Amino acid sequence: PRVALICGGPSSEAAVSRLSVGRVQAALRHHYPDLHVLELTPAIAVELHRLAPDVAFPVLHGPPGEDGTIQGLLEIMQIPYVGSGVTASALAMDKLLTKQLLKSHGIPLASDLVVKREDGIDKAVQTTLAQLGSSVVIKPRSQGSSLGTSLVRQADALDVAFREAFSVETDVLVESMIPGKEVTVSVLEHPAVMALPVIEICLPEDARLTGYGYDEKYTPGRSEHIIPARLTDHQYQLCEAYAVKAFEVLGCRDFARADFMVPDDQDPVFLELNTIPGLTPTSLLPDAAEAAGLAFDDVLVALVERALA
Ligand code: DAL
Ligand code: MG
Repeated sequence: PRVALICGGPSSEAAVSRLSVGRVQAALRHHYPDLHVLELTPAIAVELHRLAPDVAFPVLHGPPGEDGTIQGLLEIMQIPYVGSGVTASALAMDKLLTKQLLKSHGIPLASDLVVKREDGIDKAVQTTLAQLGSSVVIKPRSQGSSLGTSLVRQADALDVAFREAFSVETDVLVESMIPGKEVTVSVLEHPAVMALPVIEICLPEDARLTGYGYDEKYTPGRSEHIIPARLTDHQYQLCEAYAVKAFEVLGCRDFARADFMVPDDQDPVFLELNTIPGLTPTSLLPDAAEAAGLAFDDVLVALVERALA
């Protein structure tokens, strides 16, 4: 079969996508000699039409691409593809919609509000202080890899944090900061939906206050993956259950990764779900698969085969 990997594009996470696609290409190359890597450009429909792949694998992070747009094009072109479909991709890309959908399923969530760039920084600051206080996480509503995200602990830091977030997106999500361990649960449909071992992210001393940012995510050695996460049995099982529940409620397919904060002696708080999690050398899903005893290369082949079937 002819396989097309799609990467890059105008997303602010394009560089991450190129790292991920390298990993996927290395895994699939031997199995599929007719493997092609396409860049996401305005000509992608023409290129796909010309290449006529049997299956596509969007290895795209952030919008456009992880958000249901390329999935919609592939549906129209009747090209089978790996990963979640249009609706799940679009929902999961929007952190607010995701939380609204999960609220009714008993999954604990941080208090939040959304502010808009057009309303101005002053109003964003005032609304935040009035409703959530000064210990908050400020993040673009539909972006990934922590771009434009800030952990804020005092009122006078809000202004800069909003400026950064609004430079990335018009809609910004503000959440109460949840102290505790940052953990992540990869979910794999292989063939049944299952949670992979829960990973705890351990940051170097100098990043403890600023958090798991872009640099910590992609610079080798800037963060450590502790597997299994050091949680109580109850917390660990809840993380697994909530991740699988989120995968199912959003209607995901093949793979995803749900992120949580786990305060000491309390239940995990769901942050977000990524429908195309990072697959780079420092990423979490490949480590989780290996920790579960699965060869990650074989997992990727199985996903392509599922799409082809
Ligand atoms: N958005 C990045 C790629 C992740 O979730 O891993
Ligand atoms: Mg994300």
